[in-house]
Amino acid sequence: MYQESGKRLTIADLAKLKGNSPLVVATAYDTNMARLIDGAVDAIIVGDSLGMVIAGLENTLAVTLDQMVYHCSLVARGARRSFIIGDLPFLSYQLSPEQALLSAGRLIVEGGVQAVKLEGGISCLAQIEKIVSAGIPLIGHLGMEPQKVHLYGGFGKQAKDETGAQKLKIEAHAVEEAGASALVLENIPHDLAKQITEDLCIPTIGIGAGAHTDGQVQVYHDLFGLDPDFTPRHAVQYRELGKEIREAVREYADQVRARKFESR
Ligand code: KIV
Repeated sequence: MYQESGKRLTIADLAKLKGNSPLVVATAYDTNMARLIDGAVDAIIVGDSLGMVIAGLENTLAVTLDQMVYHCSLVARGARRSFIIGDLPFLSYQLSPEQALLSAGRLIVEGGVQAVKLEGGISCLAQIEKIVSAGIPLIGHLGMEPQKVHLYGGFGKQAKDETGAQKLKIEAHAVEEAGASALVLENIPHDLAKQITEDLCIPTIGIGAGAHTDGQVQVYHDLFGLDPDFTPRHAVQYRELGKEIREAVREYADQVRARKFESR
């Protein structure tokens, strides 16, 4: 749904896309990138992946709620048409439903996003219900949950055997019943993502989950080839902007050093 009108997409608009048109989602973490992708994507996720792609950390665990609030507010300043989802970072919601609602409320009120996302299934149902009952749209996140990186021993594919697949299906249904408006499925077998997508009423948004989810989300660094050293296996790269930036900065440096740079 390319949003050319001045109006922002709502959670109801996203729900209506299920079965009609694939949802297009990408990350953004600042005003400039939000402006560039606004309206071309249905939703923007201000992901805690910023710990890795912006802050250069090994995982997302050290990202704080204050940092998320700040980055959400930057994206909210730049995006007027796409629906904006802010990530609840590690330990900002796990302690209690009350903690989850207070954290979600900060992303909505101070960050200016329209929905929050949290990782987890059965263990987080009370949190999901509390947030949704306060009127905040919530997006679930199952499969490879990056905040459980140490439990999984890495970022590899999850739910690979029958037991894991059954457990994930139960969790997905439970998250939907608790009131989630959509569900991110990360790095799981593609046929499992297809089954869950067919079983649920809410849209699924895949990342490394194959072509049959209701939508796709990608981290923009992966889409545009911005990390010179790493591209995840599931990423689809549309440009090599990292390479172009390196070439451009080399040209600039050469001109300055040769005293050929013309200041305007
Ligand atoms: O943190 C993130 O960017 C995410 C999306 C990739 C789904 O969780």
